Amino acid sequence: MTATTSATSSAPNAATSCSTRLLTDPWVIDAEPPSYGPGASMGDRIPLAAPRQGEIPEEYRTASEEELHDRIRAAKEALGSRVVILGHFYQRDEVVAHADYVGDSFQLATAAKSHPEAEAIVFCGVHFMAETADILSRPEQAVILPNLAAGCSMADMADIDQVEDCWEQLGELAEDVIPVTYMNSSAAIKGFVGRHGGIVCTSSNAATVLEWAFARGQRVLFLPDQHLGRNTARAMGIGLDEMVMWNPNRPLGGNTPEALREAKVLLWFGFCSVHKRFTVDQIDKARAEHPGVRVIVHPECPMPVVDAADESGSTDIIRRAIEEASEPTTFAIGTEITLVQRLAAQNPQHTVFCLDPVVCPCSTMYRIHPGYLAWVLESLQRGEIVNRISVDPSVAEPARLALERMLAARP
Ligand code: 13P
Ligand code: SF4
Repeated sequence: MTATTSATSSAPNAATSCSTRLLTDPWVIDAEPPSYGPGASMGDRIPLAAPRQGEIPEEYRTASEEELHDRIRAAKEALGSRVVILGHFYQRDEVVAHADYVGDSFQLATAAKSHPEAEAIVFCGVHFMAETADILSRPEQAVILPNLAAGCSMADMADIDQVEDCWEQLGELAEDVIPVTYMNSSAAIKGFVGRHGGIVCTSSNAATVLEWAFARGQRVLFLPDQHLGRNTARAMGIGLDEMVMWNPNRPLGGNTPEALREAKVLLWFGFCSVHKRFTVDQIDKARAEHPGVRVIVHPECPMPVVDAADESGSTDIIRRAIEEASEPTTFAIGTEITLVQRLAAQNPQHTVFCLDPVVCPCSTMYRIHPGYLAWVLESLQRGEIVNRISVDPSVAEPARLALERMLAARP
């Protein structure tokens, strides 16, 4: 990982902020034993069954950036409406340049549904996003993840066996529990939630979804991000004393039966290693060095950080806040660096910097290199589908139900 500044500086420009680049090319990381690769999630435990990416042909690993750009453009042009490319905000600029849609996970889930004519949906994002696109698209459409090793360490923190075990341990209490899962979870977890009367949420609709859930049950099991769950529930007026943490490695999640009975929200012990790095000290420092700074953080940040910020919201809410500010403003942002630096470049009327000067890119989003995108598109051109993500219908059906409940839930 590259970090070009000392931890003591928070100067608001790209030259002194963390780099969006990891020093290692993704195919080097792919060749290693399974890991999340360098970056904030490096210490997270990767599941044994995590998908692995085989080596892509050498021509894609050695081509220059310009050559790959031209090849992607040519392949996309030749494929025309047969293919639609979706890109998450955290994708590198060289990938985003080719995306038909760039957005947060909610917007991309909607976009995946809106092109029934496309034979293939190429998802430049992470594994759970591609699974979601497969669930929402027509069965004949192929959803392609350019690098199979582009996972999400937070999504991997909720394993279906652990969640089934939790439900079993809850016993009769489960009758009153509505399971809610953040979009950042496997299809298997979304399917579980769908089967048990629950719903999916994203960071842009979590409050609406929790209201939906509390209209149907007394308690919520929130998976897998404890921070999004806690921040959202508290903003709705639920006290910290009404929330418990479920640690899947402990009996009853580490709780007493009484504590579980009294709880309104059961928070799964998951987190994002990128967003966990943001601190209140960084915010204090930004305020001291940049009077009048507007601090906006993603709700995957810990609660004290969200409390100390001026606002919190999904990646798209952050984007809009910056783009819509009418006066030149200094923004300190608590989210992934690739998006922050793009917003800084696109909004030269403002000063935009990342709160953490040494935070690194999401190392799994970074796995989608233009070399992989060129490879999947040129394969499609030859009539070959590589890296298809298919969710088994037995899982896809209840997962679709949970996703459709989300798409229908309105504030
Ligand atoms: P958004 O839903 O805001 O796009 O966030 C997805 C994500 O993975 C943030 O870490
Ligand atoms: Fe997952 Fe965090 Fe990366 Fe988002 S930033 S995809 S939550 S690891």
